[in-house]
Amino acid sequence: MKTSTAALSLALYAQSIYAFPRAMYDSAEHFAALQKRAGPQGGAPLPLVPPPFDPALQYVSNQGQYKFVAPGPGDERGPCPGLNALANHNYLPHNGVATIQQFVDATNKGFGMSRDLSTFLAVYGAIIDGNGAGWSIRGTPHTGISGSHGNYETDSSPCRGDLNQWGSNSDLQITQFKRLYALQPNAATANYNLDVLRTFRTQRFTESIQKNPYFSYQPFTGMEVSQAAFTFIYRFMANKSAEYPEGRLDKATLKSFMSIQGPENDLKWVPGNEKFPDYFYKRHPSDEYSIPYFQTDILYFAQADPRILGVGCNQGKVNTYSTIDPAVLTNGAYTAQQAAANPVCFATAFAKAEAPLLTGLSATLLAPLYSALDSATSGLNCKAIGSVNQSAVALCPGFALYGGPNGPVAPGAIQN
Ligand code: HEM
Repeated sequence: MKTSTAALSLALYAQSIYAFPRAMYDSAEHFAALQKRAGPQGGAPLPLVPPPFDPALQYVSNQGQYKFVAPGPGDERGPCPGLNALANHNYLPHNGVATIQQFVDATNKGFGMSRDLSTFLAVYGAIIDGNGAGWSIRGTPHTGISGSHGNYETDSSPCRGDLNQWGSNSDLQITQFKRLYALQPNAATANYNLDVLRTFRTQRFTESIQKNPYFSYQPFTGMEVSQAAFTFIYRFMANKSAEYPEGRLDKATLKSFMSIQGPENDLKWVPGNEKFPDYFYKRHPSDEYSIPYFQTDILYFAQADPRILGVGCNQGKVNTYSTIDPAVLTNGAYTAQQAAANPVCFATAFAKAEAPLLTGLSATLLAPLYSALDSATSGLNCKAIGSVNQSAVALCPGFALYGGPNGPVAPGAIQN
């Protein structure tokens, strides 16, 4: 079948899927060739123009002052492998406690995280689970992200266990890691790209339903933070090169960032030893990972698994997952369709509405948080949520469970 160039261009524009130079869109022949080429990141949306690769701008040193130093007594390491690696290489203070500005600078320097995204994440951490100016990458309730279960840290993460399934939210569960690892059996071609991660995301969601009686999937921590835990694996840990300017995440690099050591038949997690591998190249400065980019990835995941765009929970037993209508939860501010169409807006508006309850702080003290969240989402036309209907979550025991890094194992939890 012949297709006209105009129709092809329109289709490509509409999908915005492939990042190849525009000249290549000109013929059906080229288009066919492009369709055959397996994208380095799978089918996920790329910017229209492929990112440039500039080794001088993108190299992340792990030498000299940035040499790996394992955490010692008093150094905090938590559920986020990216932040753990930054602290181990002194891009963040080695003790694991940092200010908002230090988080923003370090995530940009080490991974190419856009400042809109890091400011959003770091300010939220400081105000909801820190001292207003900074927080710990581990910590306890009100001091850091390991202690923030339900507010920030959450269930169905890629490799960290669910708090009330395993009794810890910050320990890596080797069974979970091995399932991710096995999704790319051939070491020579392995690439843990967005397609692989979206498959794994679905598996982990289902696993939490099947094994964690208190599994809870909330607007901010579920729809937003827990998606980041998956997309960040490829978007940030993948090594960029001239051949793979969008990045390729092979087995050795994944192991290095996840602090996994040992041969294939004896993989072991070494707590807190996340490392930048040698010759690691981060995202190009013109291709930083931003909030709109992240939202595109969430929607890409949702094409395969629409569950991730709804709110829900297990009702105290495994396999009792039920959804909660966003319209009921937000007293009519968002319909289910509106929440699913713009998950970052819905999640952020929900976080703002919940912040006084979570922190006990007044609107004046929360003003910096509101302003950071508003400015980070300013391009998305977000609607506010006036009030949250707390009775809508009455059937969800997990919604009220705050704490960490350790917590009670739920009766009926399955650990395997
Ligand atoms: C200021 C910036 C950041 C903040 C506040 C932050 C916070 C968090 C939090 C709260 C979690 C737990 C999520 C959950 O329970 O599912 C997490 C997990 C994670 N973070 Fe970060 N993070 C930041 C930057 C990064 C960066 C730069 C990377 C780069 C690789 C990264 C990679 C990950 C991954 C892969 C996980 C999931 C770990 C697992 O379950 O295996 N994060 N982060």
